[in-house]
Amino acid sequence: MSIIVENLSYIYMPDTPFEKVALKDINLKIEKGEFAGIIGHTGSGKSTLIQHFNGLLKPSSGRVLINGIDTTGKELRELRRDVGVVFQYPEHQLFEETVYKDIAFGLIKQNLTQEQVDAEIRKVIQTVGLKESILDKSPFELSGGQKRRVAIAGVLAMKPSILILDEPTAGLDPRGRDEIFGFITKIHETMGITVILVSHSMEDVARLVDRVIVMNDGQIELDGPVKEVFSDIQRLEGIGLSAPQISYMMQELKKILPDINDRVYTVSAARDDILRHLGAGGSRND
Ligand SMILES: Nc1ncnc2c1ncn2[C@@H]1O[C@H](COP(=O)(O)OP(=O)(O)OP(=O)(O)O)[C@@H](O)[C@H]1O
Ligand SMILES: [Mg+2]
Repeated sequence: MSIIVENLSYIYMPDTPFEKVALKDINLKIEKGEFAGIIGHTGSGKSTLIQHFNGLLKPSSGRVLINGIDTTGKELRELRRDVGVVFQYPEHQLFEETVYKDIAFGLIKQNLTQEQVDAEIRKVIQTVGLKESILDKSPFELSGGQKRRVAIAGVLAMKPSILILDEPTAGLDPRGRDEIFGFITKIHETMGITVILVSHSMEDVARLVDRVIVMNDGQIELDGPVKEVFSDIQRLEGIGLSAPQISYMMQELKKILPDINDRVYTVSAARDDILRHLGAGGSRND
């Protein structure tokens, strides 16, 4: 088991006029190797929750176990290595003169030789789809998508067993978004690590993750496989969210083509189903 959350509540600025209960009695288990998405509207508590996973926040009550160890007891440095968090707009945390130094930042605190640091940096830069020539550049010379990938490379270099991404593609164009999601899916598949994706995009969540956790007002509203969660449209709409747009289109289509599958949530699955209907067959993986 990767993550166990038991009766977790969190209050910002307790006992002040600004007191805010951000998490209310959360219970959650995430297994090793899962790819889970966390969705929910602004202020629902997503970032507050994930900051408990690397010990940045400590429970006001309840507890969080990471790989079996309580976050309040475990040495923070060790916990930070186990749980890599890429925060929203991580490029704001790039501050070294070169990309190389930025990625090396966490590594040099470990007991590694220069050669090992070097090899690791070259490996992660490739994992995130960048060329080695970028290593000598200043982070400030890079495009938005490149900066984001450098920040992710820095987290990956620590070889976390749990990777958490808080809105990793916010503000990127569709191409930048696809590039990032492309390697994240690959990392999940090949490295066998637990990946948690926080996102506002129902489309991205439907396309990528296996399990969706829906937060509302500091609580978990729904939690289950993508197909289950997105088929509960009434409940989603009740808390101001929606299913991926494509599923609304499929529901409309079903009114005139009764055996169309209205329980598909990605464009590629919808296309396959429509083609099946037209008798053209065909499928593509994307
Ligand atoms: N540092 C803080 N001090 C006080 N209140 C905070 C702080 N950070 C968050 N909050 C409040 O806690 C609640 C949960 O916030 P949180 O940032 O976890 O939501 P979120 O789901 O990540 O939202 P978003 O989608 O906008 O990122 C909100 O009401 C927010 O205003
Ligand atoms: Mg947030």
